Amino acid sequence: MTHLFSCIHISQRVRQLTVAMATAVACGASLAAGPAIFKDADLKLGEQLIAQNKCTQCHVSKVGGDGSAMYKPQGRINEAGLLRGMVEQCNSMLNLQMFPEEVTAVAAVLNRDHYRFAK
Ligand code: HEC
Repeated sequence: MTHLFSCIHISQRVRQLTVAMATAVACGASLAAGPAIFKDADLKLGEQLIAQNKCTQCHVSKVGGDGSAMYKPQGRINEAGLLRGMVEQCNSMLNLQMFPEEVTAVAAVLNRDHYRFAK
């Protein structure tokens, strides 16, 4: 009887390991890909727009340093969609007249350099 019992035990263990491995693979994939909304973002364009629109300059004048203290990944903006929304809000508030794909590009760069949301 003890033999049968330990066999069941081992097969459960194998199943747990398989699930753990599958999860690790899935997480690795989503980490490499990043948030779906930034999948086709033009990062070069985003960098240009950030420089051009003086985003950093103004943030530095508010928070000092290199301005990156303005970006608070642990704050109320806690996922990619909200980050893009915030950039869109700045876009209209400051009347920057960026196109939707430009807003996406800017948000994608901020995510890559500061927020690092995986989804
Ligand atoms: C004229 C000054 C000014 C300019 C220009 C400016 N910002 Fe900001 N930005 C601010 C201020 C002030 C805040 C803080 C607002 C708050 O906390 O409610 C802020 C906050 C933000 C946040 C939210 C940070 C967080 O994690 O809470 C993001 C994202 C952001 N700005 C992006 C941009 C981008 C991108 C640009 C350029 C396209 C830009 N800003 C240009 C002044 C500016």
